Amino acid sequence: MTRPRIFETIAALRKEVEIARRDGRRIALVPTMGALHDGHLSLVRSAQERADFVMASIFVNPTQFAPNEDFDAYPRDHEADIAKLAELGIDAVFLPTVGEMYPKGFATGVTVGGPARDLESATRPHFFNGVALVVTKLLLAALPDLAIFGEKDYQQLCVIRQFVRDLNMPVEIAGAPTVREGDGLAMSSRNRYLSPQDRHKAALLPVVLRDILKALDDGTHVPEALADGIRRLKEDGFEVDYLELRSAETLAPVDDATAEMRLLAAARLGDTRLIDNMAWSKPRAS
Ligand code: PAF
Repeated sequence: MTRPRIFETIAALRKEVEIARRDGRRIALVPTMGALHDGHLSLVRSAQERADFVMASIFVNPTQFAPNEDFDAYPRDHEADIAKLAELGIDAVFLPTVGEMYPKGFATGVTVGGPARDLESATRPHFFNGVALVVTKLLLAALPDLAIFGEKDYQQLCVIRQFVRDLNMPVEIAGAPTVREGDGLAMSSRNRYLSPQDRHKAALLPVVLRDILKALDDGTHVPEALADGIRRLKEDGFEVDYLELRSAETLAPVDDATAEMRLLAAARLGDTRLIDNMAWSKPRAS
């Protein structure tokens, strides 16, 4: 197992990327905030299938956390993360400090609209501008041909696709499927915050989402299927932030013409906020 090369500065990372590019290698970046689980590792594997030089970044980005959120408590274990990445044979890890990404006097923002409106933004209005800022900086630092993000954060993926397109950034953005625990719970670095009792309950979220899709397949009207899902989650002690069916492409509310849809949910158990989503398209009339 070879330890990947670790870069802490943008200048050093750029030099390495330049060499890889000169060698004709296709370059991929997997941005992460660390606390890596199998979901992240599947993104790295997918990058390795599609590129010849693969980097991951590990950076807990302060600009996407509100003051009342878990920035300080967010799990950080660089050595364990690097060991997992080394096992996969990743080529490089970008591990910048907050000062490297946001030096004193930093005064620039990226403002996103379109798919960033409502859903997550209703409870976390700061979030997508912070994500857009750091992802823009990471893409400019690493200059990859390809960057991969998990579909678990589906709204985030749509927002990133939108600003990359709007700003004409020369990078391909790919999504990779959500990786789930044995009981169906979507993997997330924040699942470790759940008490054993809430961890057990958390598995109801994907069950409810699947049941809603089944009800829709069977012809139940959208508002009824969603209301039933919300009721079941509340009965089990979840506080539901949203449970909605949206256009898979734009995240706009669906109408009769929408072909590809996404069922998206955010719900809290105690202090832990869980998000999940699943794809749905109308069954074809036979
Ligand atoms: O999904 C995440 O882990 C983060 O939001 C990202 C994309 C790495 C930006 O900090």
